[in-house]
Amino acid sequence: MKQTISLFLALCLTLALTACGGTASTPEPAPQPTVQETAPAAASEPAPQSVTLNEVPTTAAEPQVENNAEAEQPAGAEHKTLVIYFSRTGENYTVGTISTGNTAIVGDWIAERVGADVFEIVPETPYPDSYDECLEVATQEQRSNARPAYVGEVEGWEDYDTIFFGYPIWWGDMPMIAYTFLENHDFTGKTVIPFNTHEGSGQSGTQRTIESLCSGATVIDGLAVRGNTAQNDQAGTEQAVSEWLSGMDFFG
Ligand SMILES: Cc1cc2nc3c(=O)[nH]c(=O)nc-3n(C[C@H](O)[C@H](O)[C@H](O)COP(=O)(O)O)c2cc1C
Repeated sequence: MKQTISLFLALCLTLALTACGGTASTPEPAPQPTVQETAPAAASEPAPQSVTLNEVPTTAAEPQVENNAEAEQPAGAEHKTLVIYFSRTGENYTVGTISTGNTAIVGDWIAERVGADVFEIVPETPYPDSYDECLEVATQEQRSNARPAYVGEVEGWEDYDTIFFGYPIWWGDMPMIAYTFLENHDFTGKTVIPFNTHEGSGQSGTQRTIESLCSGATVIDGLAVRGNTAQNDQAGTEQAVSEWLSGMDFFG
């Protein structure tokens, strides 16, 4: 009898542990559930992972200011194209302290590849250089549904028919400043092409969000690149971008 009870208890314990096992190991940093990414380059990315500080804090960085929307388009270009991105320098997850943001690297490469102008979304109030502090600010902004202001504005917005729009994933979503930009502009009739960097969340549902915010636009499937890859594997990043672009008939 004793043996039967012990066996029964052992079975209960095993079942209980099995039931808990899936949730204990890798908590998702984002409060929202992540949606499976659509970008081909990110298809083999591992599941979303926790974003915890594992780098040494550093001193404050200069804000990234390079609004370069004056660059010349290639002669005879069929499209007038603008690459817009928000990207943060300073201390970040897995890459240490960086002087060019991960998304900026991808965005600048896209601009070079397609001959586009660039507009960088620069926050009026710079985000903290410290990763931990930035996590906190981003949390507050997301909770309060903030619309942080940015510096400057795109000149000749109406002239651009194709817009690449880049951002990092913050807490499973676009940074709130990306919402500020998207909501401030009329995308009717334009082609919008999202791209983002992340450390495990892929696009995290932002493709759908952009589609809903850019009403009247044609939104093409975006590209999600790991921030660490963008920062440390130039060849891999350029290849991923080139392959993605070559799938679009007007850039291939
Ligand atoms: C505030 C904050 C929140 C983040 N949240 C996530 C997240 O939910 N999922 C994820 O995969 N990466 C997350 N990351 C990592 C960034 O998406 C990644 O480092 C990205 O490449 C940063 O791009 P940037 O250098 O252009 O700013 C977060 C980073 C920060 C600073």
